[in-house]
Amino acid sequence: MRLELPSLRVAGALVGGALLAACGGGEDASTPAIEEINGLKTPAAFSQIADDGERAAALFAEMSKVMLHPRCANCHPREGGPTQGDAMAPHNPPVVRAAGMGAAGMECSTCHGGANVEFASMTGSIPGAQPWLLAPQSMGWAGASVAELCTQIKDTDRNGGRSLDDLVKHNGRDHLVNWAWHPGEGREGAPGDQETFGALTAAWVEAGGHCPA
Ligand code: HEC
Ligand code: HEC
Repeated sequence: MRLELPSLRVAGALVGGALLAACGGGEDASTPAIEEINGLKTPAAFSQIADDGERAAALFAEMSKVMLHPRCANCHPREGGPTQGDAMAPHNPPVVRAAGMGAAGMECSTCHGGANVEFASMTGSIPGAQPWLLAPQSMGWAGASVAELCTQIKDTDRNGGRSLDDLVKHNGRDHLVNWAWHPGEGREGAPGDQETFGALTAAWVEAGGHCPA
């Protein structure tokens, strides 16, 4: 590779300004920052937006692609119990909300274990993570608009008393958030990966945590 470099430079010099302009100028050989991973933009894709409020709003809109994805929203319903699948149909069998654990005898953990388990007789799997719980009703946001979602998750009366920094930690590290990218056979993961989602959340908070209008 090193041997190729001088000849590349020569070619660049020959083609002159046109090539330099096309490359964004300069001889900087460093790789440009990755701007998209698995359908989710990284914070680098927003670095050109100078205004903090605008950048925060754009970063949040990108975060909402993950949060409103069925892998997350199925556990964050506004009413009733969990939903399932990409169509977000009511959970089958029906289960009720009772402090997130389900009713006695039909607790989530009756069926959901600490890891995904493939069905023996057909394709698909029972999702699992330890512990597997329904989000409290105050944290239900399935079907919310991007602006509503933003206001809601910043509201400490509804988000479990979390600061913006707590949200960065939750999104970057929580095990149920993590499951959304390892959802088991028969399910598509949320866009991006948890690292990128965590980085978007951190960049949003750094830009002031403003919400889209
Ligand atoms: C009687 C067994 C049983 C109980 C109890 C149960 N589940 Fe499920 N759950 C399943 C099965 C089986 C699936 C997989 C369905 C499929 O994909 O075909 C599932 C799927 C789900 C999904 C769908 C994930 C996705 O993105 O598609 C969520 C969310 C979920 N359960 C949450 C819960 C919660 C929360 C509780 C407790 C309140 C609970 N479940 C209780 C059996 C159960
Ligand atoms: C299996 C169910 C489940 C899944 C899947 C899930 N969550 Fe949650 N989520 C919860 C529960 C339960 C809580 C409450 C935990 C607590 O307060 O300690 C929660 C809390 C949160 C919070 C805290 C603040 C608030 O207002 O909601 C955020 C943010 C969050 N989840 C984001 C996500 C994102 C993003 C995904 C998908 C990438 C996701 N969750 C997937 C169950 C789930």
